[in-house]
Amino acid sequence: MTPADASRQTSDLCRLAPVIPVMVVEDADNAADLAAALVAGGLPVLEVTLRTPAALDAIRAMAEVEGGVVGAGTLLTPEDVAAAKEAGALFGVSPGATDRLLDAAEAAELPLLPGAATATEAMRLLERGYSMQKFFPAEASGGARALGALAAPLPQIAFCPTGGVTAANARDYLSLKNTLCVGGSWVTPKDMVASGNWRAIEALAAEASALHGKAPRRKLPTSR
Ligand code: 3PG
Repeated sequence: MTPADASRQTSDLCRLAPVIPVMVVEDADNAADLAAALVAGGLPVLEVTLRTPAALDAIRAMAEVEGGVVGAGTLLTPEDVAAAKEAGALFGVSPGATDRLLDAAEAAELPLLPGAATATEAMRLLERGYSMQKFFPAEASGGARALGALAAPLPQIAFCPTGGVTAANARDYLSLKNTLCVGGSWVTPKDMVASGNWRAIEALAAEASALHGKAPRRKLPTSR
């Protein structure tokens, strides 16, 4: 898969909903219920971070949920790419990017959303063909102001900011012309997941999916 194809696919995913829930799943047994609640609330694109022993089983379980598009996050190595692919992840996300990781994702045909936090990192990825990138860690890197400032010199790159994004600041990002969607963990609070409060999670997802309408998008320039 070429980087351009990967970016086309990840940008299509980012247009499906304004928020991608980023999950650290401790218990694969309730993963399908969790995914179902998020999808029912209007958030079909889901990211399970490979940070817990349960993550790969959670991806397997969530991949069965109708209407969901499940990806693997925190991909750091070629081994992570292989494991994510084997578990049925449809896309991958990384906090950054290395040549080994990009090579592996392209060879495995796993559309990757690679991370950048600076103009130089974003330019390196663009040079390789990635016009859809994750801006991480968003709030710690200057937030919506910093991301918006990248749009002037780098209008051909679209971003999914992640890291410190919440219900309170998501709209600041979503109204930027270079932001297609945001990623965040606020829609899956630990206590609600642990107690299986799927109705509350569905309600949070519904609120997040409505952020769409409150932040009218400006048109992104056509990428090269
Ligand atoms: C992460 O690193 O877990 C994601 O970027 C989500 O960050 P958040 O918990 O600040 O939303």
